[in-house]
Amino acid sequence: MRELLIIAHAAVALADGAFVWVGREADWRGNAEDVVDLHRRAVVPGLVDPHTHAVWAGDRLADFEARTAGVGYESILAAGGGIWSTIRATAAVSEDQLVSLARPRIDALTSSGATVIEVKTGYGFTPDAELASLRAICALGKLTPARIVPTLLIHVPPQSVAERDAYLSAVCAKLIPEAAERKLARAVDVFVERETWSALEAERILTCAQRNGLGIKLHCEQFHNVGGLELGVKMGALSVDHLEACRPDQIATLAAGQTIAAILPGVSLHLGLPAAPGRKLIDAGAAVAIGTDLNPGSSPLFSTSTALALAVRLNGLTPHEALIAGTVNAACALGLSDAGRIEAGLPADFLVLESSDWRELVYALGANPVREAWIRGEKVSA
Ligand code: NIG
Ligand code: FE
Repeated sequence: MRELLIIAHAAVALADGAFVWVGREADWRGNAEDVVDLHRRAVVPGLVDPHTHAVWAGDRLADFEARTAGVGYESILAAGGGIWSTIRATAAVSEDQLVSLARPRIDALTSSGATVIEVKTGYGFTPDAELASLRAICALGKLTPARIVPTLLIHVPPQSVAERDAYLSAVCAKLIPEAAERKLARAVDVFVERETWSALEAERILTCAQRNGLGIKLHCEQFHNVGGLELGVKMGALSVDHLEACRPDQIATLAAGQTIAAILPGVSLHLGLPAAPGRKLIDAGAAVAIGTDLNPGSSPLFSTSTALALAVRLNGLTPHEALIAGTVNAACALGLSDAGRIEAGLPADFLVLESSDWRELVYALGANPVREAWIRGEKVSA
């Protein structure tokens, strides 16, 4: 997860949507039916965005304005706004509308370089609303060329204790088993925070997920340390995501475990939070992935390559580390071993950059460094 092999004057051969040969152009000995000259432009693996909340309705512009006047993200949530307002707006639209609203967001991520995109639920507030969001995510997977990986996110609990317990029971008795049985989700994520679920509650939800054969992930250490990271590492989570408030001892815990540390620099930029300690995590030996966390409230970031560019500036990654974090490590954070690499036998997902130097991918801010995205051997954007 650290090696980056750069081949000068390279060529790839594709057949049936997969890479069948990769090497120096001068070493190619076969015949080819269609030859595409990329004019020495850099080619990199398709990016994997391991963390988005791309299915929502409404907007959070009023929150944004309130925050510029000094009101905190957590206070807005505690007062029934923030994520709650998105939940209300999402409940007011149909499943088809959810798909139409999400489609251009997915297309924006793809043209920014993402060929595999995780999409979470979390803006439905009943098991049925969450199942509808999962169906919308799966419908997106059929409509868009990107590979969509659906995750069920148990996001915010009801405010009264009795309702909270009842919701938790419904999540474990109905929502998770149905999502697993109908193959609507690959993983379950829980938002562990002071204002949301406790580590104890998350353990119950994630144990149920594992019993149902699903992967597990956590949103944790965003604002406070309430045990999410330790729980994730102990339970073998695919990833623990956010980590803006990650302490030095927790960096060591991650470095000693198998769980990927997913950092989301768009959140630090948009909410003004401390940047997750990407540099220290890598130096300690942890595996870091980068995601946009595309969502209406904490990270309205519609570009996966910009997430990598921000991780270099805000989290102290080198360009080389950011590319690995946005490809092979991000694939690992989704439990995928066939994405994020240019290698014979794997799906032919790759990007042709505008530049002949791959580092342009993480350099440009505001201009798209990606000229073409290819998914399973087909060019999807020009
Ligand atoms: O990843 N941290 C919690 N959940 C989302 C935010 C969702 C929202 O603000 O709408 C996140 O930051
Ligand atoms: Fe998130």
